[in-house]
Amino acid sequence: MKTQYLYFYPVFEGSQVQTQKNIVVLGTGGTIAGVAASGSDHTAYVAAQLGLDQLVSAVPQLAAWGDRLQLEQVAQLDSKDMDHATWQTLARRCAAWLAQPQVGAIVITHGTDTLEETAWFLQSVLAPTKPVILTCAMRPATALSPDGPQNLLDAMSVAADPRASLQAPGAVLAVCAGRIHAAEHVSKVHPYRLDAFSSGEHGDLGWVQDGRPRWAAAAMAPAQAHPHAQQALSRPVSQWPWVDVMHSHAGVDARRVTALARAGLHGLVIAGTGNGTVHSALQTSLQQVQGLTVRLSSRCALGQIVGEPATWVPAPRGLNPYKARISLMLDLMA
Ligand code: SIN
Repeated sequence: MKTQYLYFYPVFEGSQVQTQKNIVVLGTGGTIAGVAASGSDHTAYVAAQLGLDQLVSAVPQLAAWGDRLQLEQVAQLDSKDMDHATWQTLARRCAAWLAQPQVGAIVITHGTDTLEETAWFLQSVLAPTKPVILTCAMRPATALSPDGPQNLLDAMSVAADPRASLQAPGAVLAVCAGRIHAAEHVSKVHPYRLDAFSSGEHGDLGWVQDGRPRWAAAAMAPAQAHPHAQQALSRPVSQWPWVDVMHSHAGVDARRVTALARAGLHGLVIAGTGNGTVHSALQTSLQQVQGLTVRLSSRCALGQIVGEPATWVPAPRGLNPYKARISLMLDLMA
């Protein structure tokens, strides 16, 4: 007998009515703005070369937006080099645009490598009431078949959908390869393929199909800004706490802990093995240092720490080590 599988998704079609408000596109660089010597080069290219106006003009459909599309080049970098100063500038520019009544949403073009970190930082400090969507590309703009123009158009369709802020209130979203992800859950899981992002066990929030968002799940609970969000927007980044990530692994050399603590480290996220276990050498060293705030997360790509570890407080919300670093940094900004 043939088994039949039934899959049920509570799907909400995106609205056919698009926002009449302006959409602001902020450029930060990345492969989406990358240039290679030949159309067949997918890896030998230089990221962050094209301006936002060039990215937008590669998408003829965006011409229909006319003056309702506003562009601002906030940064121009390869996102492996993302830094706190750029985050602060970006967050401030987002806050300034979002405060304007005629602005309905923001789309940010960004490199893929640290997109999940920027998305979580922005959500933590802004918890925006209007959609803020990050998009990117895995192939440079000069590729024979670049993915950036479609990703930008898809991100625009999510930004223009009045349903976006109902489905994910206060959340920052990422749109890549036709999939809509929440900042909290998304991570880059592949170094090359076009569909490089996953929301793991949480699944996608939806998809963009034929130019329209299709929301796959019930609305998320409203996201709240971190209690120290204002400090992150106003305090000079040189005064932000120093928080690092350290992986526990076979043969780990625990001298790193003492060296970092002596150098003035304030907080450390341990990317533990499995269910947040930590190499005994590292554990001993961590217990000996004074004044270091430690949070525990897992190296595992899926799931989160189960139960209550006897050692250190687990990172909130099962965040991956890199997002947990951001949350601990904000915690320590009191
Ligand atoms: C970057 O993250 O800026 C370069 C890599 C990419 O965008 O895919």
